[in-house]
Amino acid sequence: MAPLLSPTDEARAAAERIAELTGRDHHDVALVLGSGWSEVVDGLADPDTAVTIPARDLPGFLAPTAAGHRGTVTSCLVDGVPLLSVAGRTHLYEGVGTAPVVHPAHVAGAVGARVLVLTNAAGGLRGDMAVGDLVLVRDHLNLTGRSPLTGSLFVDMVDAYCPRLRAAAAGAIGAAESIESDDPTADGPTVGNAGVRPAEGVYAAMSGPQYETPAEIHMLRALGADLVGMSTVPETITARGLGLGVVAVSLVTNLAAGVTGQPLDHTEVLDAGAAGSARLTAALRALVPSVART
Ligand code: HPA
Repeated sequence: MAPLLSPTDEARAAAERIAELTGRDHHDVALVLGSGWSEVVDGLADPDTAVTIPARDLPGFLAPTAAGHRGTVTSCLVDGVPLLSVAGRTHLYEGVGTAPVVHPAHVAGAVGARVLVLTNAAGGLRGDMAVGDLVLVRDHLNLTGRSPLTGSLFVDMVDAYCPRLRAAAAGAIGAAESIESDDPTADGPTVGNAGVRPAEGVYAAMSGPQYETPAEIHMLRALGADLVGMSTVPETITARGLGLGVVAVSLVTNLAAGVTGQPLDHTEVLDAGAAGSARLTAALRALVPSVART
């Protein structure tokens, strides 16, 4: 079926500027690096292939306001696959509307990507989850009360997180994690799913910026959520409208409110990303070529 959406004019203008500045007029995969994931961009590229542009120099991007979001766009090759990565998201809670939130998805479409890889930090709701786990999003609950779409755009959301790409991503992350866990020099934590295929889960998107109450976490569990966060869902909806395949990976940065009895704070979220950055880099270095070639 033909896509219901086309990239916005601003996204096409950004793609043109990216092509001028990087010499690459096509990227197979686009990647959005969420809270705690920004460090990954440094280690992802094949040697001497990365060109980084401040996002504010490109049409449609806003300077990020949340700590841990860099505000850069990088074009590189990963195992020969042209990748465009955006380090720094705009969130619904910033109050600037949905257009800047989903701009990276439109840019992904405009640079020719077939696959959009979304990463995020999330609270884990399941008893078998630990800080540092990577979890592939299988489905989502849009509890933001918002959609990035307006008008009669009846985008299909069955298998929004493509099962075929998800299987490829799971295999790649599992292989990378087992190599990392054998590496005595790796700086990753020992917690997590090292050596096994990552878990899958349902991601509940809240509009934030406040974290949830224990009662809300209780409600989310009853609704079938495994993960909770404040991003990803608007981008997924837009990417599906544009006809892109979507893979989303959550890093469990904390156990959700009320699970441990401890208060939540944003530095905990960023610390979990920094502690695992070598693992996250290895996981994405494996995942990007794998989903591009699936
Ligand atoms: N709740 C909402 N968003 C989050 C969380 C959480 O517990 N952790 C990281 N992002």
